[in-house]
Order: sequence, then C-alpha cells, then structure tokens
Amino acid sequence: MKIGVFDSGVGGLTVLKELLKFKNEYYYFGDNINIPYGTKTKLQLELLSSKIVDFLISKNVDMIIIACGTISSNVYEYLKSKYDIPIYDIISPTLEYLKGKEYYTFATPMTCKSKIFNNSIECPLLVPAIENNLDVTNILKEYLDKIPNNSNLVLGCTHYPFLTNEILSLRPDLNLINMGKVLCDDLNLKPSKLKIRLYFSKVDHNLINNIDKIIDYDFQLEELCLNYQK
Ligand code: DGL
Repeated sequence: MKIGVFDSGVGGLTVLKELLKFKNEYYYFGDNINIPYGTKTKLQLELLSSKIVDFLISKNVDMIIIACGTISSNVYEYLKSKYDIPIYDIISPTLEYLKGKEYYTFATPMTCKSKIFNNSIECPLLVPAIENNLDVTNILKEYLDKIPNNSNLVLGCTHYPFLTNEILSLRPDLNLINMGKVLCDDLNLKPSKLKIRLYFSKVDHNLINNIDKIIDYDFQLEELCLNYQK
C-alpha cells in the first residue's frame, strides 16, 4: 500500500516514525519552505495543503495521512470534501482517546483558534526553534509554567515530540500524549514491503540533522528529494 504523509516541515516525521511499524510504502512531503503553518490564514492553509495533496496523488498513493495538527484542525473537512482519496487527520484519534479525560494542550496559534482541543496554550515559538535546532529550554519553561502538576499534556503539534526528553526533564510529572502514537495504536494497515521516500521543499543544514534524529536509515530510504518544487 502506498501511503502519503505530509506536514509543514519535519514535524510529521514523528508520525512517520510511528507508522513505520506498519511496513508499507511511504511518501512524505515536508513543506519547510512555507513553514510555519501555525500562523497562516485558513485560505493559505487550503491552498498549500491542496498543492501537497495533488503532489501525493501524482505519486499514486492509496491514502493520505495529514501529519500536521494545524491542517487537521483547520482544513481537514475542506480536503475531505475536495478529494475522493481516503484522507485521515492526526487529531481525531487523539480526541477519541481523550474522551472523559481532563487535559491541557500545547499547539500552534491556528490550532488553538480552531478550538478543537480543550485548555490549549499557543506555543508560536516552538516550531521555528525545532526546525532551526535552537535551544528551547527558556521558551519551554515559560509554557510549562501554565500546566498544573500531574496533568495530561497533549502535544497538539506534530513537531513537539522532538522535545519529549526536554519536556520530561523539566516536568517529569506530566503525562505526554503523542498524536502519532495514538493514531498508530488505532490503525490497522496490511503490511507490504517497507519503502520510504522523503520530499522537502527546501534544503537547509538543519534539515538532515532533524531527519537523523527521527528516522533510522536502516530502514529502506528509497529517495531523499530536497528543494522539491510542487
Ligand atoms: N507540525 C505542524 C502542526 O502539527 C506545525 C505547524 C506549523 O508549521 O506551524 O501543527
């Protein structure tokens, strides 16, 4: 089965990493030339995500996973009604898992504005810091001060699992919820041969470093395509 996965940048790799346990053929697109998505308008998000979906369809994928909280919370319905191909969002399985639970959420400004999550806190500085490999300790401390002890904290943006260790070293009391993990606990995909193709719209020296942190090259990486223009 050919599965398309996309995000504004490297964040969706945290979802791809979980998906890899289902051996399949993955086409990943990271639109890092247009990052961050979290401060774009809904219309911009519709246009950018449509271009990516068109690209993934041109690769003959059988289904698409939106590995981006911002697109999932703002334009999932739009994409679903525009395209015939099965499209899955990253947030619905987490909302299902959270039913009846109390939780806090870290997310991008546009995801917070969508009001899809409860108790959501805007963290606009995290995505640019992660993409550029910057130190986030001080920013994180400020955001984490808003979370009561022993809370469930949803990482409502797929970039944030990059910070799991840092968050837990600052706040070991928190129970972090990783949307990629929740999605994959729910999925049941028929396995085939594992192949990965990664496409990014811009190369910069931080990109390879970030890919390295998440994706183990022992997996079959068939193609790494940088500066890819949709
Ligand atoms: N990974 C995207 C998300 O889950 C980041 C959005 C952005 O580029 O700001 O929301």
